Amino acid sequence: METKMIRFEKNEKAAEMIAEFYGCRPKVFVHSFGCQQNVNDGEKIKGVLIDAGFASAECPEQADLIVFNTCAVREHAEQRVFGNIGALKKLKETNPRLMIAVSGCMAQEEAVVEKFKNHYPFVDIVFGINKIDLLPEILCERIRSQRRVLDTPAERTEVIEDIPQERGSRFRAWLSIMYGCDNFCSYCIVPYVRGRERSRASADILKEFRELVDAGYKDITLLGQNVNSYGKGLTEAINFPQLLRMLDAVPGDYCIRFMTSHPKDATHELIDTIAESRHISHHLHLPVQSGSNRILKLMNRRYDVESYLALIDYAKTRIPDMTFSSDIIVGFPGETEEDFLKTEELCRRVEYMQLFTFIYSKRSGTAAAEMPDPTPRKEKSDRIGRLLAIQEEVVAKLGKEMIGRTVRALVEGDGRKKDSLTARLDNNMTVEFMQNAPVGEFAEIRITGVRGAILTGELA
Ligand code: 5AD
Ligand code: SF4
Repeated sequence: METKMIRFEKNEKAAEMIAEFYGCRPKVFVHSFGCQQNVNDGEKIKGVLIDAGFASAECPEQADLIVFNTCAVREHAEQRVFGNIGALKKLKETNPRLMIAVSGCMAQEEAVVEKFKNHYPFVDIVFGINKIDLLPEILCERIRSQRRVLDTPAERTEVIEDIPQERGSRFRAWLSIMYGCDNFCSYCIVPYVRGRERSRASADILKEFRELVDAGYKDITLLGQNVNSYGKGLTEAINFPQLLRMLDAVPGDYCIRFMTSHPKDATHELIDTIAESRHISHHLHLPVQSGSNRILKLMNRRYDVESYLALIDYAKTRIPDMTFSSDIIVGFPGETEEDFLKTEELCRRVEYMQLFTFIYSKRSGTAAAEMPDPTPRKEKSDRIGRLLAIQEEVVAKLGKEMIGRTVRALVEGDGRKKDSLTARLDNNMTVEFMQNAPVGEFAEIRITGVRGAILTGELA
């Protein structure tokens, strides 16, 4: 299906109505939960509201409008959101003018919207993820009707271009290249809440990318649920490696990162593109989820351990200093000790620099929610602990291998130790050092040691 596109235009009438309603310039606080895609959506929510006349609030207490941009990927994330929103009831009692709006993945779940409707009377607005551009109008509807506006989830399939963005950093930026997911991994709610895959036209991505480089951004992360299927549904013939090469050709001093790569769609062409590029990070986030072929099949991941490892080996040969990170779900329904041992083996074999481990969380509506899940919770958390122990050993080994090397790293800000700074290496490792250097600029750093997952070093 061909993707349609709409260009954002400021709604002057809505801005006028907002100004009239509040009298003085109102303030907005946006709280984003979950993944980087959500963080980028949060920057757009803020951008649209600032465009409509709001100023940015430093904290919820200062705000006239609080927007919760929510995550639904695991139950724990949802509970946190409900907890945080519940805590605002008091704030609303002291500031009756305060409005509370909810968006993000939870706003796309019918049962959740019902819950807001029936049990959270102080939530004024629930609006869909794909309606960020319409937020000023939705707010006006709330003002005009003097009633809550709780939008029922409906899929809006167009890609909206030119949405203003209020970026959280002046040197690190998120750039969404596609939205949605068509993969339907059996545990995952994302395809149900974020809808089908839609890619942005390469010319629009290139324009935004150039603007970021010109504005001095040094670290630009391309975002999508599965960046490797970029290009599907566009009238132009383009794939993800081609897009990467197009962006890499833009002159400037910067680093390109991307996430997330689905292993079934990551190709040798992708690895070759990274190897031959000037700006692309030597790091690949390639979530494996499990090291057991039996579980991968139940997860509907559509690759096996052998093909995954073959790709990792190709990348290691082609780019010797490449590092890898991964997501792993522990305790997927029916995961046995034997399955889990295979995950342990895979982690030892790949040597991930970073591992994000999650206990399986049942999401209603997904295929896995119907599968029997007899493993006790305690067993699952023990398995997480075992993975973390392996990870500690691996990270210490990878860190030791870095000692003595001089690397380029982007200085990001204060470190954990007093008077220290941290910087991010091209391969995504973090180094802490005690000298002064300009934040948001690259520095040459000699690695002198490793403490846990963090390297230590000094300016070279
Ligand atoms: N339970 C636990 N983890 C999940 N993830 C996605 N869905 C679930 C779930 N139902 C994890 C996957 C994915 C990451 C973003 O979140 O590992 O890669
Ligand atoms: Fe979820 Fe799988 Fe899509 Fe990732 S690829 S968002 S895990 S369905």
